[in-house]
Amino acid sequence: MNNNETIPVEENVAWKSEKPNDVVVSLIESKIVNPGDKILDEGCGFGANSNFLASEGVKVSAINIKYSELQEARNRANTLGVKVNYDQADVMELPFRDEEFDTVLDIGCTHMLETQSDQIIAARETTRVLKPGGYLLYFGFNKNHPAFQRDPDSPRFRNVEDVQVIYPKFSVIRSGEVRWETKPEENSLDPEHVGTFILLQKKE
Ligand SMILES: C[S@@+](CC[C@H](N)C(=O)[O-])C[C@H]1O[C@@H](n2cnc3c(N)ncnc32)[C@H](O)[C@@H]1O
Repeated sequence: MNNNETIPVEENVAWKSEKPNDVVVSLIESKIVNPGDKILDEGCGFGANSNFLASEGVKVSAINIKYSELQEARNRANTLGVKVNYDQADVMELPFRDEEFDTVLDIGCTHMLETQSDQIIAARETTRVLKPGGYLLYFGFNKNHPAFQRDPDSPRFRNVEDVQVIYPKFSVIRSGEVRWETKPEENSLDPEHVGTFILLQKKE
């Protein structure tokens, strides 16, 4: 597989939607994730990705620092009739054993951490809980985001090479940029969000 191969994504990655992200769906379609695999969804939001994966027979653990979001995710799982182990936890201190998961999703979670040192702690935790050969699907804002111009020292904006630095035990399988318009209710200074999806694999 080649680095920098484009990941097909829909423009809208709105995380409050009940619809799973296209890149997560593509993990199932491409058999990178299979029924019976153990997945950790870090910063699971309202559970759209976790609930979808559980409906595909994946064993999903999902954490969020916000209790209210977890409750909504649980309610949605109950409505859909799927089982996900939702727990309140911080991505910087994961309540899981070493090498417990086949795949970890970090879709917009660690990019919320505001210091490089916190991001390194979270990356070490993610590395710890993933099996050798396991996958990490990462999404975060990148340096093409208009807000980066106002805050160029912020570690929240990371290009592929910045992510690789904090995941030295991983290879980049593929990556792709996504852009979508901001919504009026966000009251954003920016006309659009710009970020990168990266699929990484932990070396054996
Ligand atoms: C942009 S949302 C993405 C939600 C979800 N991953 C999705 O794609 O639908 C970021 C999520 O990370 C959670 N979060 C932020 N900091 C966290 C932390 N330190 N530990 C765990 N979750 C965190 C937020 O509560 C929020 O649910």
